[in-house]
Amino acid sequence: MAAKSTSNHYGSVAVTIHWLAALLIIALIGSGFRGSGIEDAAAKAAILRVHVPLGIAILLLTVARIAWWLFADKKPNPIPMPAWQDWSARATHFVFYVIILGMAASGIGMLVLSGAGPAIFGGAAETLPDFMNYKPRIPHGIGARAMLVLFVFHSCAALYHEFIKRDGLLSRMSYGRSS
Ligand code: HEM
Ligand code: HEM
Repeated sequence: MAAKSTSNHYGSVAVTIHWLAALLIIALIGSGFRGSGIEDAAAKAAILRVHVPLGIAILLLTVARIAWWLFADKKPNPIPMPAWQDWSARATHFVFYVIILGMAASGIGMLVLSGAGPAIFGGAAETLPDFMNYKPRIPHGIGARAMLVLFVFHSCAALYHEFIKRDGLLSRMSYGRSS
């Protein structure tokens, strides 16, 4: 399978970035809600020691994905579908990028403004701040919920195309050949 996409199949670089990003986001949403629901500072810091590096990883991966599309590769041609579906797919993909970048920015903003780095990574969990006192916590919480909605919508749309319309949409985002 070629690194770059063809007119009807995503290339291995795009497929790898896509599924890695999906896994990272599931882990981030899980660890984020788990962490924010915990009162015990040491347990919350332990979760943030995973959440924060994963958040930085998705930021780097998303920047790499944008650079890949802008400078190296071209997306496959859209599968024939009604104009509104094509439009909503494009909008969903675009909004994913915006929310991921916004989540990373607000997450980093929370850490910088609260100075929580040493409490999380330096073993001083008892000094962990209440992140609710910092403004970026609000868009971070809203973005997380928007991401969940988009994730369900996007996954259902992919499964609908693959198994009800049977137009091979999911297969072209896999490592195999398109049908
Ligand atoms: C796409 C990337 C990210 C996703 C999907 C994500 C997801 C979440 C979620 C779901 C929550 C809980 C929200 C709530 O309960 O209302 C959360 C909280 C949090 N996230 Fe993230 N996050 C991301 C990136 C980051 C980054 C890059 C950082 C830091 C550099 C970060 C730091 C935090 C912090 C400090 C909290 C607050 C925990 C608390 O309130 O106790 N996140 N995140
Ligand atoms: C939160 C996790 C996910 C994110 C952020 C995400 C994001 C994206 C983005 C941005 C694209 C456009 C291609 C690109 O820019 O690289 C895309 C395409 C695609 N995604 Fe996802 N995705 C996620 C999860 C999933 C899941 C769980 C499925 C399957 C159930 C899926 C199936 C697809 C398919 C089939 C395409 C290709 C659509 C086409 O050919 O037009 N994605 N995804």
